[in-house]
Amino acid sequence: MAARASAAPLIDAGFPELKSRIIERTGHFYYQDKDDLLWERVRKRLRATGLPDSIQYLNLLNDAISGPVEWGKLETEITIGETFFFRYAEQFAALRDTILPELIERKSATRRLRIWSAGCSTGAEPYSLAILVNEILGESLETWRVSIVGTDINDSFLNLARQARFGKWALRSMPAGERERYFLSAGKDQWQVRPQFRSLVRFEKHNLLSLLDGTSPLEFTDFDLILCRNVLIYFHPDTVIRIVEALRDRLAERGWMLLGHAEPNPAFSAMMQTLNLPGTVAYRSGSKEETSAIPSFEQLKLPLRDPAPLLPAPKPVERAKRQVPPRPATISPKAPLSPAAPQAPDALLDEVKAQANSGDFAAADALCRKALAVQPLNASLHFYHGLILQALRRPDEAENSFLKSIYLDKSFAMAHYHLGLLLLAERRSGPGRRALTNAARIAAAMPDDRLLDEADGLTALELRNLVRIHLEAAMPSKRRR
Ligand SMILES: C[S@@+](CC[C@H](N)C(=O)[O-])C[C@H]1O[C@@H](n2cnc3c(N)ncnc32)[C@H](O)[C@@H]1O
Repeated sequence: MAARASAAPLIDAGFPELKSRIIERTGHFYYQDKDDLLWERVRKRLRATGLPDSIQYLNLLNDAISGPVEWGKLETEITIGETFFFRYAEQFAALRDTILPELIERKSATRRLRIWSAGCSTGAEPYSLAILVNEILGESLETWRVSIVGTDINDSFLNLARQARFGKWALRSMPAGERERYFLSAGKDQWQVRPQFRSLVRFEKHNLLSLLDGTSPLEFTDFDLILCRNVLIYFHPDTVIRIVEALRDRLAERGWMLLGHAEPNPAFSAMMQTLNLPGTVAYRSGSKEETSAIPSFEQLKLPLRDPAPLLPAPKPVERAKRQVPPRPATISPKAPLSPAAPQAPDALLDEVKAQANSGDFAAADALCRKALAVQPLNASLHFYHGLILQALRRPDEAENSFLKSIYLDKSFAMAHYHLGLLLLAERRSGPGRRALTNAARIAAAMPDDRLLDEADGLTALELRNLVRIHLEAAMPSKRRR
């Protein structure tokens, strides 16, 4: 034991200051309580630079000439870049069915589309957008000026992104047929994005925190669509709000924003218009009061459950070759629930979700009760009932519903999670923290990339991170570091 302890050098005296500089510069509050992890990464840079300790290293970072280069290397070391094509199918469905068609119609006069993928990692997100835009516009793409910019703080991710070459893991959500259409084979298990998609995207280094200190370049403005997904999860909740506000200010009039699964934050809805789409929430620039101007879910007539490919059906010439199955008819949220004609559990659930998405929570509550009369042991229905009751500001009943869903399925991580959030909001800190810890414990027993049930694409790792952030925020201030 003693030999092992001496083999791993202890964190040195200058480390706390170095850590706070790193968090200040990158926003990575994630490392606040992860000294060992950050130290391990810093030590790699100490070894690479031949410097003996954190103080000397901080001097290097502060150096006017060598500092910026070393910051780049350190940022590369400490950032986490998990990404893949068409991540979060629900958001790409919303882009395909609602957001991009709305933009294309509204901008048909100027034929100019500006899109920003902020925190793009190795590029799967902006290239997915390029593929989608290309598929939707078809041949008329030639008459449009489409610019998609992917930005990141990590230089090596950006270099990889520019190469546009991906392995199996980044393409894991894409059927082989789609892969052939969008990529060229580039050797063993490697695929290169085809030039027609690649040419729509460019990459630039950009630190999101520069939006807060006024150093962010002014050309990062006037965007029709901004995606900033799975980046803010590493930041302090206060920083998250400031960045989302700054991103909103970089949107064009009536521009759209999609965020990742950082917890649904009421502050976002207060600063932007909010549109509930199936399985996700989208934001638009404009005051909250204007929300009523946004078409409702029903007006948009979106499909509820769409087993058809995520991408639009190919252009007519190609359609004959590909034989895409027709889309299933939209399930009417108003269709009556009939115990005499039992529906699949998913169909019942979809009806409830659709009603909730329409914003009519009273009707969603009534529908959910009817559905529960048919399927009283459906844990997911109880879970959604909890969410609906919460929206109706009936916390006691919501708590009861979450407890029922947990009773029916003890390993239902999202039910524990939402119960925890509800209890914390009710200032019941002890039980709230316990419920969140249960959610994290369940997620910890799963592989990091496992998609959780009823979690809109959230992975086990992401849930654990969210729980950590909530627990940190719920900690009495004197115990917070
Ligand atoms: C988990 S990846 C998400 C990639 C992509 N948005 C997605 O959802 O698939 C997070 C990315 O955010 C980047 N990032 C972290 N802090 C950043 C900052 N302060 N400014 C810009 N990018 C940052 C990381 O380098 C990393 O590539």
